[in-house]
Amino acid sequence: MAVTRCVCFRRSFAELVPQARSAGWTTLPQLAAGTGCGTGCGACRPYLERMLATGATSFAVARPGQEPQPARAEAWDMA
Ligand code: FES
Repeated sequence: MAVTRCVCFRRSFAELVPQARSAGWTTLPQLAAGTGCGTGCGACRPYLERMLATGATSFAVARPGQEPQPARAEAWDMA
């Protein structure tokens, strides 16, 4: 299972990366102000921060306090 989106605002990280780059957003507060992402339950916040820092759009589920790491591609991603 991979984390690929902000569930509360129904926005995928794959959509958010180009939007953030186009808008010049490099921080979570900037992204949150522009999209709302990260301002609901907050569960996506560590993933959004890593997304902004690395451009990765799919992450393994991280334990609390653990930095999210990019997810390995699943078989259905290879099509
Ligand atoms: S999943 Fe992003 S704010 Fe809830």
